[in-house]
Amino acid sequence: MTVNKVAIVTGASGGIGAACCRALAGEGFSVGIHYRTGKERAEALSKELPGSFLLRADLGDLGEIDGMVEEIRKTAGRADVLVNNAGMSVNRDIHTMKPEEFDAQRLMTRGAWYLTKRVLRLFMLRRNEGRIINISSVVGHTGNAGQIPYTMEKAALDAMTRSLVRELAGRNILVNSVAPGFIETSMTDALPEEIRAGIAGSIPLGRIGRPEEVAEAVAFLAVKGSYITGTVLHVNGGLYGG
Ligand SMILES: NC(=O)c1ccc[n+]([C@@H]2O[C@H](COP(=O)([O-])OP(=O)(O)OC[C@H]3O[C@@H](n4cnc5c(N)ncnc54)[C@H](OP(=O)(O)O)[C@@H]3O)[C@@H](O)[C@H]2O)c1
Repeated sequence: MTVNKVAIVTGASGGIGAACCRALAGEGFSVGIHYRTGKERAEALSKELPGSFLLRADLGDLGEIDGMVEEIRKTAGRADVLVNNAGMSVNRDIHTMKPEEFDAQRLMTRGAWYLTKRVLRLFMLRRNEGRIINISSVVGHTGNAGQIPYTMEKAALDAMTRSLVRELAGRNILVNSVAPGFIETSMTDALPEEIRAGIAGSIPLGRIGRPEEVAEAVAFLAVKGSYITGTVLHVNGGLYGG
């Protein structure tokens, strides 16, 4: 019996995560669809993707991450690809941002770091094989007003990519970031139309990107790119070149 390779995608109840799941399922992976509150969206996605399974955890809570990893072990017994995609932003300037709002955004580094640590130990190091893809952001490179903690988290995630590659030297485990620009999801839907038009006008390709365009880059790094590790792949319509 051939056992499908397994890809875990966090934040798969959201726009980019769901597109990553579809792209990875298209490449033959059984996909672990992670969500926190978006159970219905995750269930609907799972119905679309044969061989997929659901995982729930608040990635701000290390105990819940342990529970999720145990669920992967019981359900799939392996994890060949991990896409650290879950994220959120609280948009306020430094004067009005509350410390607890700063802390809530730490799921993007602390949560991703802990999940990666557990997935490496239980699955990837044992097989000496794996791909880890961290979804960061163009604003981790350019900065953005009103998003200091978010931009710090995203810059730190790219730093994790580079440092982890060095810790995993000699192992057959590739680690990369994909840094989207402005992409059509609930995260950007909330912006007023004139702001969206302004953003689109500042992008050389003249439009906001689609989740599938980020997912294509993720699928490439999951199955191809065998000599690419420790890099940040920018997917932003020319907004920033890295
Ligand atoms: N959209 C953009 O323009 C853009 C640009 C650059 C980078 N990104 C990054 O791309 C990633 C996906 O964003 P998106 O646009 O697809 O956003 P989205 O549609 O808002 O989805 C966000 C996902 O993150 C999950 N999540 C949030 N907080 C969580 C927590 N504490 N624990 C576990 N899961 C949590 C959400 O789960 P539930 O809904 O189930 O709670 C949801 O699945 C994020 O890391 C984001 O920062 C997005």
